[in-house]
Amino acid sequence: MARDLTQLELLTELEPVAEQNVNRHLSMAKEWHPHDYVPWDDGRNFAALGGVDWDPSQSKLGEVAKAAMITNLLTEDNLPSYHREIAENFSQDGAWGTWVGRWTAEENRHGIVMRDYLVVTRGVDPVALEEARMIHMTNGFASPAEADAGFLHSVAYVTFQELATRVSHRNTGKVCDDPIADRMLQRVAADENLHMIFYRNMCGAALDLAPDQALDAITLILENFQMPGAGMPNFRRNGVLMAKHGIYDLRQHLEEVVQPVLKKWKIFERDDFTARGEQTRERLGLFLDKLGQDVLKFEEQRDRMLAREAAKRERQLASSSAS
Ligand SMILES: [Fe+2]
Ligand SMILES: [Fe+2]
Repeated sequence: MARDLTQLELLTELEPVAEQNVNRHLSMAKEWHPHDYVPWDDGRNFAALGGVDWDPSQSKLGEVAKAAMITNLLTEDNLPSYHREIAENFSQDGAWGTWVGRWTAEENRHGIVMRDYLVVTRGVDPVALEEARMIHMTNGFASPAEADAGFLHSVAYVTFQELATRVSHRNTGKVCDDPIADRMLQRVAADENLHMIFYRNMCGAALDLAPDQALDAITLILENFQMPGAGMPNFRRNGVLMAKHGIYDLRQHLEEVVQPVLKKWKIFERDDFTARGEQTRERLGLFLDKLGQDVLKFEEQRDRMLAREAAKRERQLASSSAS
């Protein structure tokens, strides 16, 4: 049986592909400035500088938009943790080092623009936001233990995660009901898409280099996939709200994130797996079937829940107009 490649062998073999893809990224990436996306005229001082502190009535964002904005911003804020994971599993040298630095700088811009927007427009409570950021960053981020096993696992995880954040930012823009927020989040989502392409190309090259080994990592990552917000205050509540209202739900996860990437990698068409890879592919197939069933179950539950809520609202409306 062929032995697995070591971390060093993988990184050395894939370095020329990393270089090509860093160059590709730099030629595609658009220069943009956070200050161009923030309506500064809407801003005013808070009480400490003689103005007025935040009050819920000042926010123009709905409940779903608030939950999604906070979740997505706190995720961006946790960049030092992701930087650590990526920097530890990728090399600091050559094209790898260039990528890690560039990617980190681009991600930082996302947190800057979203925070500026939210504070200037008073979209969310800035004190609660800061408290949540402190808690979330202090907790940090650790990938699930079983999925924490080096370069292949990292590159597989970030491929799906970048695409997931793209979907989430994009849909958050739509529910904000503000063309300025929509434009800002479209800009951020476009960055996430380019990040995804870099990682997807690297993971694809790893599949060509070490098919069985890479498929092991991909399968494990998908079986354990979690959005990177665990450890965030209200993560579950906000996650449910986002899933319920189509910001990021299980169908989007399966159809807009998992399936397109697996298709791009030709996972179910390849003939370069050995018996070990074939077995893993079967396991992955079963996992996807189960995910498909879970999608239907989730949607039935969601529809029932939304119908109950609509009925409750109608009853409240009827009783308030009767009184
Ligand atoms: Fe980002
Ligand atoms: Fe990204």
